[in-house]
Amino acid sequence: MCGIVGALLRSGSVTEGLIEGLSVLEYRGYDSAGVAVAREQGVEVCKRSGRLANLENALRESGFGASPAGIGHTRWATHGEPSDSNAHPHTGRSGRLAVVHNGIIENHVELKRELLSAGESFTSETDTEVLARMIDRHWVEEGDDEDALLRAVARVVPRLKGYYALALLATTPRGPVLVAVRQGPPLVVGVTEDGGFLSSDQLGVLPRTRDVVFLEDGDVARVGPGRLQVTDARGVEVVREATTIAWDPSDSGKGKYPHHMLKEIHEQPDVIARTAFDRIDLGAGDVRFEGGAFDDAFCRSIERVQILACGTALHAGQIARYLIEGLAGIPVDFDFASEFRYRQPRVVEGTLALAITQSGETADTLAATRLARELGARTTAICNVAGSTQVRESDAAILTHAGPEVGVASTKAFTAQVAAAILLAVRLARSRGALPEHKARELLEELRMIRPKVESLLTDAAIARCRAVARQHAGKRGFLFLGRGINFPVALEGALKLKEIAYVHAEGYAAGEMKHGPIALVDNDMAILVINAAGAVAEKTRANIEQTKARGGVMISVGSDDASHAIAAMSVPVPVTSEWLSPLLNSIPLQLVAYHIAEIRGCDIDKPRNLAKSVTVE
Ligand code: M6R
Repeated sequence: MCGIVGALLRSGSVTEGLIEGLSVLEYRGYDSAGVAVAREQGVEVCKRSGRLANLENALRESGFGASPAGIGHTRWATHGEPSDSNAHPHTGRSGRLAVVHNGIIENHVELKRELLSAGESFTSETDTEVLARMIDRHWVEEGDDEDALLRAVARVVPRLKGYYALALLATTPRGPVLVAVRQGPPLVVGVTEDGGFLSSDQLGVLPRTRDVVFLEDGDVARVGPGRLQVTDARGVEVVREATTIAWDPSDSGKGKYPHHMLKEIHEQPDVIARTAFDRIDLGAGDVRFEGGAFDDAFCRSIERVQILACGTALHAGQIARYLIEGLAGIPVDFDFASEFRYRQPRVVEGTLALAITQSGETADTLAATRLARELGARTTAICNVAGSTQVRESDAAILTHAGPEVGVASTKAFTAQVAAAILLAVRLARSRGALPEHKARELLEELRMIRPKVESLLTDAAIARCRAVARQHAGKRGFLFLGRGINFPVALEGALKLKEIAYVHAEGYAAGEMKHGPIALVDNDMAILVINAAGAVAEKTRANIEQTKARGGVMISVGSDDASHAIAAMSVPVPVTSEWLSPLLNSIPLQLVAYHIAEIRGCDIDKPRNLAKSVTVE
């Protein structure tokens, strides 16, 4: 949600690097983009509503000159419509300070009123401009150098309510200054001899250095070449250790694919293998997590699991519920993280709160997990980003090894989360004797062998089937996705993918629930995708296909149940696997169908309207 970059170089020009950083972060928001650079006499700003390309054109046309220090921003609008004036950076009245911001200043109206009555004026509707004006005024009162700026920041920060990550660029008599402030949303800093760099996301710093520091809440950091000085919430200078990031900067490119989403769909055989295979101990019919995490004693002490997540990650969580209850016999609840806090949840002794999140920075998931901890739960995370807030705050974490996911529509992170959930369920089950060794070995062997099956869904022939479904149905009024048991969440995920990237109304429904209402929607302008894997619920799901077909529904079957294909109008066959593993396979054709419908409808697949990849506001 909003991308921030900043750099202070020993020499050279910063603009190109800022744009490069923003292009990597554009997935966080793309309502507008802007940069500010430091000049001797003050800061110079260029900003435009719309995509980054608009800003690049404006920079070219204006002949924006070289400067060794600057900040940049790509916006997901929270206050004020996407427009040039609401775009960041925002400046103080002195013209020597610019601010970019991710988050929300909840008391900005009150602060703005105060500033207006003191004679301040504003050019935008944003909470960020209030901040910029306020810090600038205090800076003028405190002096004109870097220390005075830090004193101004220290006066303003305690007055702010809300969540924010800030980058401040200032021009002082001794040169430019770059300051970062974190209270909530992530901020990552990297320092080399050539420069100091900051970004909302490690991807923004990765092209400069792999050794990054994740700032903590309350931190104020001065960043420059060979220099990182951090003071914590108490104003005490602290050392924040650097983490070395394993990701390769080229992993965040599109490679040979037209879209990140398509590239990420194709990465799934590797991603599932990286996440699962090394953790499988076939000899013991068990799973081994790094550092002995989830040992027998810990697993046996778990009486109940509370899953907390949002969006796609919650669908992975719903699948995890089937797995943990079905294999380990532990009761599981799941909640939308955004709702958990508002239903007075009861957390019983022995509860493990399991947060599932790709980014590890989703504000709702973080807030829900914090509450679960306050109520006495131990916390764990299935997460894709090693140094993220979610991982750092959890008692234990299972990292998925999906690599950077840039497409706003989550694909490979989802299957990696499901793979991690399978491992966790097996470990829990084995620790308490709920799953005999030979049964566990059989399941893990099947998982170990799944790669060619995943690959078979990504061959030209398999993709052509999904494209044919897309072509045939792209114009339909609506879509229903039906599934039963562990494939019910797969149906929910299929519908979410289609909604978010193709802007088509789609609903995921439990197949057996259709007859209790939604079947009234069915006519021949409604496409109905039924996910049906050979196994315990296949026959019942087939009966639901017949009931829906009898009402004129256009049925498309996806899965390994051949009998379903025989009665459907179109089908996408999926290899047979254990029902427990079937979501890993069944979700892939649904991703491809959504992708191709979006393509046919001319949608912006990697940057769907109104969305942002990482939602760091509640
Ligand atoms: O980073 P997270 O996994 O916590 O993100 C959660 C959701 O915002 C995310 O899954 C969202 O629903 C995706 N756009 C779905 O494709």
